[in-house]
Amino acid sequence: MDAKARNCLLQHREALEKDIKTSYIMDYMISDGVLTVSEEEKVKNEPTRQQKAAMLIKMILKKDNYCYISFYKALLQEGYKDLAALLHGGIPVLSSSNGKDSLVGVTSYVKTVLCEGGVPQRPVVFVTRKKLVHAIRQKLLKLDGEPGWVTIYGMAGCGKSVLAAEAVRDHTLLEGCFPGGVHWLSVGKQDKSGLLMKLQNLCTRLDQDESFSQRLPLNIEEAKDRLRILMLRKHPRSLLILDDVWDPWVLKAFDNQCQILLTTRDRSVTDSVMGPKYVIPVESGLGKEKGLEILSLFVNMKKADLPEQAHSIIKECKVVECCHWRIRTDLLHKWNQS
Ligand SMILES: Nc1ncnc2c1ncn2[C@@H]1O[C@H](COP(=O)(O)OP(=O)(O)O)[C@@H](O)[C@H]1O
Ligand SMILES: [Mg+2]
Repeated sequence: MDAKARNCLLQHREALEKDIKTSYIMDYMISDGVLTVSEEEKVKNEPTRQQKAAMLIKMILKKDNYCYISFYKALLQEGYKDLAALLHGGIPVLSSSNGKDSLVGVTSYVKTVLCEGGVPQRPVVFVTRKKLVHAIRQKLLKLDGEPGWVTIYGMAGCGKSVLAAEAVRDHTLLEGCFPGGVHWLSVGKQDKSGLLMKLQNLCTRLDQDESFSQRLPLNIEEAKDRLRILMLRKHPRSLLILDDVWDPWVLKAFDNQCQILLTTRDRSVTDSVMGPKYVIPVESGLGKEKGLEILSLFVNMKKADLPEQAHSIIKECKVVECCHWRIRTDLLHKWNQS
């Protein structure tokens, strides 16, 4: 934790210990992923309310900036506005260079929602693309709870699917805009029967307890109707993510008054569907800095500590301008293993 944050906590320790009730605050911090259940137990085992508070603060002092922020937010949430105000001055600025700031929105709530929705996890070696992720989130916010389409498009391998998954990996966005959750569907290139199967699978997923129908839809039209009812009645205010859409006709089956995020190589796929549409183009060029960032992650070294050769490797692999993410990462992976 930053010295400033730590000092602020120490300075106001007494006031905090005197006033706070720990149980709801800890619930909040656990769901933020900054406190464990066994730590909660330890606090609960203290005999008095004040000793519980003292134990919690002692733990927070040993933790990082994210924990401080979560504690601050919990105070606000639980009605301790005055105490939160005391801590406000100590709120640490999260560095953008270590990529950790994007983790702050990844709470256990987010993890659960994304896992249930079948959203793929981050690649093992991952670099943030803050501007693009921000642009996608802004468009999703623009949907404002109304049906509409947000399209991420760009050439194969430029990172669209990773970006789509990253965009929804955020507590505030999920809670505020899509409290009904998200549902990820890998579409790909399909013929009619392939699409019907995808739709049937989706309907089954959305109707786990079979409260709407026991029988699978028999054709695309029926599946479209079923999907509409399921989204409307069982999963209102949720986001459907259609990954890798190839053909405009496929989208007709989803043109159902839903909120949809989709990835595609073809910008025109949404031309004939109804409702507001927003697009985010993804360039394939990565930039030298991101290339170095990936390289540093692969070899587990700080960017600044990379040897001189790193720059020429990036140039030689043409990782700066020409290759796709996949080729770039494969090349770097090979280099790392050699
Ligand atoms: N932000 C990222 N950080 C690290 N690797 C990435 C990132 N985005 C993409 N990749 C790599 O590139 C590959 C292709 O990305 P993907 O999102 O599947 O591309 P697209 O959907 O545009 O075809 C991924 O499997 C991953 O290995
Ligand atoms: Mg993809």
